[in-house]
Amino acid sequence: MSHASAARRTTIRDLHEATARGEKWAMITAYDAVTARIFDDAGVPTLLVGDSAAQVIYGYDSTLPVTVEDLLPLVAAVVRGSERALVVADMPFGSYQSSVGQAMESAMRFMKEGGAHAVKIEGGQRVLPQVEALVAAGIPVVGHLGLTPQSVNVFGGYRVQGRGEEGEALLRDAKALQAAGACAVVLEVVPAELAAHVSEVLTVPTIGIGAGSATDAQVIVWQDLAGLTEGPRPRFVKTYADMRGTLTDAVTRWTDDVRSGAYPAPEHSYT
Ligand code: KIV
Repeated sequence: MSHASAARRTTIRDLHEATARGEKWAMITAYDAVTARIFDDAGVPTLLVGDSAAQVIYGYDSTLPVTVEDLLPLVAAVVRGSERALVVADMPFGSYQSSVGQAMESAMRFMKEGGAHAVKIEGGQRVLPQVEALVAAGIPVVGHLGLTPQSVNVFGGYRVQGRGEEGEALLRDAKALQAAGACAVVLEVVPAELAAHVSEVLTVPTIGIGAGSATDAQVIVWQDLAGLTEGPRPRFVKTYADMRGTLTDAVTRWTDDVRSGAYPAPEHSYT
């Protein structure tokens, strides 16, 4: 699914209809207006302001430290930068787990102050009351199961989730999220076979990341896709560009030109 010809924002209903037609669709992370505009123009129908901002924007080594205050301006920038994509705001660690009231307050801020069109919450059974209450209040909720990075300390690292008997628990969680009103469910780093089964059982779209090819949609952190992030990347990442190399080259050449006096040239100067 692409929204390239649509003059309005993609809706949850559009995504459900695309899934019902068997059309795969894409979600990409965005954290600022410039990239949001590029992804929007490229026809990506959904933008996720992920709490991965903790790592790729704020430089933390996990998603845990980032707050609603940190993410709100990014959500607002992505909404301002895009015209047609549906924007999903990620609820950060500590912004929804304590109570339904806390979840409601955080989600309301993302919708009212950030202008988001939906929120995303990690977890299954334990967050059902929050999902039910948000949906009842008119806030679309995307669930998130499998390798939920906010639980990295429970998992003991970023490892594949849902192998063996864990797979049955994940399926139960997915069904429970759907029953609670979740409009879609992210499946992160789970066996492809399990993701395929969950996608077959659920009627709402599944959005995979490291979950094989059978999910209804795919999500990716854009800096991974663009080859901007450093160091070894997870197995599921396919890089489509070498932006790290391109940017390093551009900045190196500009620095050299500044040192040599080649920049600015007369054509870059005013009379
Ligand atoms: O924060 C994020 O970017 C995410 C996606 C990887 C699903 O949660």
